[in-house]
Parts: sequence; C-alpha cells; structure tokens
Amino acid sequence: MSLPPGFIDELRTRVSLSQVVGRKVTWDMRKSNMAKGDWWAPCPFHQEKSASFHVDDRKGFYYCFGCHAKGDAVSFVTEADNVSFMEAVEILAREAGMQMPARDPKAAEKADRRTQLAQVMEEAVKWFRLQLKTSAAAEARAYLEKRRMSPAAQERWEIGFAPDQRQGLFHALTQKGIAADLIVAAGLCAKPDDGGAPYDRFRGRIIFPIRDARGRAISLGGRSMDPNARAKYLNGPETELFDKGRNLFNHGPAREAAGKGMPLIVAEGYMDVIALSEAGFRATVAPLGTAVTEDQLRLMWRISDEPVIALDGDTAGFRAALRVIDLALPLLEAGKGLRFAILPQGLDPDDLIKAQGAGRCRRCWRPRSPWSTCCGGAKPRAASSTAPNARPRWTRCCVPR
Ligand code: UTP
Ligand code: MN
Repeated sequence: MSLPPGFIDELRTRVSLSQVVGRKVTWDMRKSNMAKGDWWAPCPFHQEKSASFHVDDRKGFYYCFGCHAKGDAVSFVTEADNVSFMEAVEILAREAGMQMPARDPKAAEKADRRTQLAQVMEEAVKWFRLQLKTSAAAEARAYLEKRRMSPAAQERWEIGFAPDQRQGLFHALTQKGIAADLIVAAGLCAKPDDGGAPYDRFRGRIIFPIRDARGRAISLGGRSMDPNARAKYLNGPETELFDKGRNLFNHGPAREAAGKGMPLIVAEGYMDVIALSEAGFRATVAPLGTAVTEDQLRLMWRISDEPVIALDGDTAGFRAALRVIDLALPLLEAGKGLRFAILPQGLDPDDLIKAQGAGRCRRCWRPRSPWSTCCGGAKPRAASSTAPNARPRWTRCCVPR
C-alpha cells in the first residue's frame, strides 16, 4: 500500500512522541524539562539504569546517547512493538484519529485471513483450557501438579488439555460455525490423504499456547503425558500464522520484562520458560521445537544486547550452545554479545529451580560464578573482527572451571 504524500509528516505532527514513548519508559522527571518538550528516560532499547534516552517532543525525534538508537514515532513503534512499518503507521494513525488510506485489496485480504486464523486459534485455546477442568483431564491435572505448576501458573500460561479424541476439537469448533478449512489452515486439525474428515492434531496432550510478540495466538505446543509417546512434544505445523523460526515462546512478556531491566534468558523448552518466569526471571524465551535460528537471534538482540543462552546441562545442550555461537559470530555487531550459562550436568533450568531454587539459578547467569562464565560483549566482538574463521577463543570460557 502506498501512502499519500504528506501523510507521514501529518502523522508526525499529530502524535505526541513523548506520549508514544511514555508508554514504554519511566521518565526521569528530574532530568526532563516538559515545558521545553525535553524528555529523558532510561533507554527502552538497551538495558541501563541512567537516563540516556532523549525525546525532543517538538521536533518529534528521539536519540539514545547510550546505544545510538534514533528515529521518529513510526520507527519507535516498529522497534518497540516489533511491528512492520505499515502496522506502526496504522497504530499511530488510529491514535491520532487519522483515516488510513484504503488498503490494496490483496494485502487487506491477507491481513484479514491472518486475523481470522488467529481468532480460530483463540477459540481453540479457550476450548483446550476448558478441557483441563473436565474429569477426562484428571491425569493431566495430576501431571501438572507433579511438575509443580501451580493452578495460578496454569492460568497465567493458559495451559490446556487436548483429550484423546479423534475429533474433539474439530467438532467443538465446527459447532461454533468455524469452517473446516480454516481449522486445518490454522494447523489445529489435519486432513487425511484419503480425503476423509479432518482429525485433531493434538490428542492426549498438555497444551501450551504460543503467542506472537503482540499477543496473538499463533500456534500450540503439546506435551504428551505418556513417557513412551513417539514425540514428547508436538508443535503446530508451519502455517500462514506460524513461522517457527521467526517466533519465540513468551516473546511479548519477555520483551516487556527485559525492558524493565531483567536479563533475557534463552532456554530450550516450554517448561523451562515457565519455571524460570514463575521463579522471577520473567524475561525468558525459548525457540519453538527447532534449533535457534538467525531470525530468532536477531529478535533476541532487539530485546537485549546480551542475551544469556541457558541450554540444558547435557551434551545436546552444550552442542546446541556451540551451534548458537557459530550462528552468532557472523551476525555480531558493536554493542551486541551473548553470554552462556552452563547448567549443572544433567539438569535443565526447570530441574535446577526445582532441585536447588531460583537463587542457584541466578548464579548461572551472574558473571564469574564457578560453573558459568561470562563471555562479555567485548570478547566475541574481538574474536569476530580479528579472526573470523578461527575457533573463537571465547568458546573456551564457556566450559565450567
Ligand atoms: P526437552 O526434551 O529438553 O524437553 O526438549 P523439556 O523442555 O525438558 O521438557 P520436559 O521437561 O521433559 O517436559 C526441549 C524442547 O525441544 C522441543 C520442545 O520445544 C521442548 O520444549 N521438543 C522436544 C520437540 O519439539 N519435540 C520433542 O519430541 C522433544
Ligand atoms: Mn525439562
């Protein structure tokens, strides 16, 4: 879609940048001079305690003296809400009471379709949550209790249960008037090759809703309670709504918490994210059933300059951490780094919290503890700039001392 000339300028004049930014920061009232349209706050784009983020409300521009982030209201919303340029314009136009020009029909159709799919997904989440309360879910509730997920946490994470039925969800959704092809397109049901009726993909599993950065339900993860199940976790397939490699579990809440100064922790699985968040490490994310991708690394760096990779304390977790290093090296930019927390042998973050508490976990990402080491931002930068192909020296500092 193209915008009429002058639209962005008009938008810039109509919205108050300090109001837009004010939703994401806490102003430093001592440093700010409201009368002059001069606002200061700790930067929402990097972690800091001092207020180096400056908003010039009259000119409508911001600049961070710490990380050099700069731009106008539109770029602020793209960055802070992780939305596209056009979405940011729409958000701001709505706020300013400006009518958006008509969208080209193809783009509008695509956006509507995604909205529809997200609504179907939302209905499914609701239904799965209801099922967790039924008598058929007694075993599931017992399982969650055994894993020490409190009822309050189950509510917060919108945990559900997929009963072991071939078409439980399918019938529930079609009875609400939802078209079968939408249910299939959302990845909730699969169509058999023989052309028969769609059947539920998730059966006999605990359900973890997956939301995008803006909070839209885009997919599900399902954990089997049967230790002999072929797949312990089943994730929704790639759909128009869900691109596994470009999303993170708990993205929205983690971004918010990181903005308030919590370290960004990257764990391996759903249960780790939940256990860590419930223990107070609310800026925790996980990839979604695949190894960390380049896109996910970029997303993490938008949230935090120095994400802490806290993969399982086993050979697989260590190998995965090495893969992250290989992936990260060519992408490193000034001011960006990674830290690696090495967990005790055989434990994942969820186990560690349960066995030894949150304090013990915190020591994993506090630099210079005996079994986690901080690679810092400087070392990887040096490694990548001086010897791009050499085995980076800083991988060695990830080995427990
Ligand atoms: P793990 O096997 O480490 O499981 O897989 P976990 O997170 O510790 O789970 P619990 O504690 O046994 O319940 C880590 C992540 O890898 C993906 C899931 O996203 C899982 O959270 N995974 C794992 C799959 O997608 N499929 C699988 O069969 C197993
Ligand atoms: Mn686990």
